[in-house]
Amino acid sequence: MPLLHEIGFVLNGSPIRLSVPVTMTVLEMLRGPLNLTGTKYGCGEGECGACTVLVDGLSLNACILLAVECDGREITSIEGLAADPAAAGLRRAFVEAGAVQCGFCTPGMVVQGKYLLDTRTGTDRAAIARGLEGNLCRCTGYRKVVDAIERAMGSTEGAGGD
Ligand code: FES
Ligand code: FES
Repeated sequence: MPLLHEIGFVLNGSPIRLSVPVTMTVLEMLRGPLNLTGTKYGCGEGECGACTVLVDGLSLNACILLAVECDGREITSIEGLAADPAAAGLRRAFVEAGAVQCGFCTPGMVVQGKYLLDTRTGTDRAAIARGLEGNLCRCTGYRKVVDAIERAMGSTEGAGGD
């Protein structure tokens, strides 16, 4: 019987209390007991970015982050961005730029895009591409993903919505 630990955190704006095994990752918690399957399992080793979530505004790989480490913190998953009017411009930019093919990497790309929009560490294409280095895509060749984030950054709405 694994050791359980009760944690409390805010997920996509809602407070959650949950008892989790101390070895459970945030990705396992999201896709398991919380039934939020938008965050994807790719490599499980912190290499592909398919599991990217925001934790207190930082983009982190949920597959190598323990759920107990999120006690008292604020997590945003792709489901939170899907419902967030402030991310509407970013979501639309992905569609308009044709940045989605099979879609497996897309949740992580959109979450990382939101992080880049929020932090604005660089708005030129090279900076956006550097910001996506931790997110792998087997389909798009990345150009259209960079197009999408550049489009969202340049839009009068910015990261905002309609
Ligand atoms: S599944 Fe987490 S980085 Fe690949
Ligand atoms: S769209 Fe298929 S892996 Fe990125």
